[in-house]
Amino acid sequence: MAGVGADDTPAAARVVMMPLPFQGNLTPMLQLAGALHARGLAATVLRTAPFNAPDPARHPGIAFVPVAVDFPEAVVGSEDNMTKVFDLNAALDASGCLSDALASLLEKEAPRRPACLVTDAAFPAAQKAAMDIGLPWLVLHTCSAATFRLFMSYHILYGNGYLPKRESNLCLPVKELPPLQVRDLFDPSELPNQENVQKIMNLWNQTKMNSATIINTFEDLEGPELEMIRGEVTDNGTLVFNIGPLHKLSPIGGTKTNLLEEDCSCIEWLDTQAPCSVLYVSFGSLAQLTQEEFAEIAWGLANSEKPFLWVVRRGLVLGVEKPELPEGLERALLEGRGKVAEWAPQQNVLAHSAVGGFWTHNGWNSTLESIYEGIPMVSRPIFGDQFSTGRYVEAVWKIGFLLDGVLERRKIERVIQRLMVEKRGLRHAKEQRI
Ligand code: UDX
Repeated sequence: MAGVGADDTPAAARVVMMPLPFQGNLTPMLQLAGALHARGLAATVLRTAPFNAPDPARHPGIAFVPVAVDFPEAVVGSEDNMTKVFDLNAALDASGCLSDALASLLEKEAPRRPACLVTDAAFPAAQKAAMDIGLPWLVLHTCSAATFRLFMSYHILYGNGYLPKRESNLCLPVKELPPLQVRDLFDPSELPNQENVQKIMNLWNQTKMNSATIINTFEDLEGPELEMIRGEVTDNGTLVFNIGPLHKLSPIGGTKTNLLEEDCSCIEWLDTQAPCSVLYVSFGSLAQLTQEEFAEIAWGLANSEKPFLWVVRRGLVLGVEKPELPEGLERALLEGRGKVAEWAPQQNVLAHSAVGGFWTHNGWNSTLESIYEGIPMVSRPIFGDQFSTGRYVEAVWKIGFLLDGVLERRKIERVIQRLMVEKRGLRHAKEQRI
């Protein structure tokens, strides 16, 4: 039930927040709730339960209202992440539970109506619920400003023949969105369900109807992109706020937003390692590898002779619940040169002095966390926005490099050597924070 959080004053204006219930989306929304609350607003988070529901005990001062949802197995079990997001939206829209939850919240809070709803850019069902009930809404984009521009540009990308992608145009520069190349674009036409192509195009139209757009980024990092966005959207009356990096602007930093339990022995293990010596490897909360890729990474790490900490979460390998480590890797672990965890306290890991490099999928939260700590990256984007972020890491910010093509153990060993030892082509990330 809606309640006043422990630290709220009765006079504080209330903001309702409705996160999309996936780790990478949930984390920045909860951090934003914390940042608003710390600045004197009251925040109520609608949390889908039992699916990926955050733990209210970890967020004192924030009020939580459960929205009971029975997601079909097809939604939670789908292997395609975009399909998962759209199926989830469709299921919530059809059930009417979001509108009901908002209506009952407004009734309970009467006569002091909440000021607005903040929801996710990829959560049109929540935006529609706010529209139906006449509550102004703001959209939080959990990707970079550069990716926001890319998502706004689909009509141009199709109109100018970049999309659908073809084997022959993959390396072509997208001159409207430098330094992106066609291969960095997320191509909706490749989705298994073609109905979702139109839904992706509609996301932007719906974004134009909101009161404001919030992007988890900052001026020094993406100043030119933000300026272009302001030029492109303000004629619709939409305000653009760049409020980032949220994990540092919010008291809800660290690991409080994690849905999985962190293995804290990672930090004890890092304490035993030399400064800047460890490669941290993680592919976020959703990305998946094939069995072959998993084996090549394991052998590449084992043969590299460098210390590593690798997050092997359940479901990381397609079709396997708990991936088994090959013998070579087991040996490296026994020698104390490596550590494997199912889920790490990532922000604390990246802040640890023993960590000298991050092999990442370039999810936006991971990228911001790495940038903040000045850790150089090997970028191996896997889906969606990660490709354009990987390109920016290499070509614009020059704080990492892309690992392209088929994953193969010798290539991986060379990349690890380049990142951890030679640092060829990289800015000195630690000395020169962006
Ligand atoms: C994906 C997208 O790629 C991202 O850009 C989008 O905005 C949301 O969905 P995800 O794959 O989960 O997100 O990656 P990322 O955005 O990096 O978020 C993962 C979060 O989980 C990070 O905050 C990271 O610190 C945390 N994490 C990850 C841990 O705390 N421990 C781990 O072991 C792995």
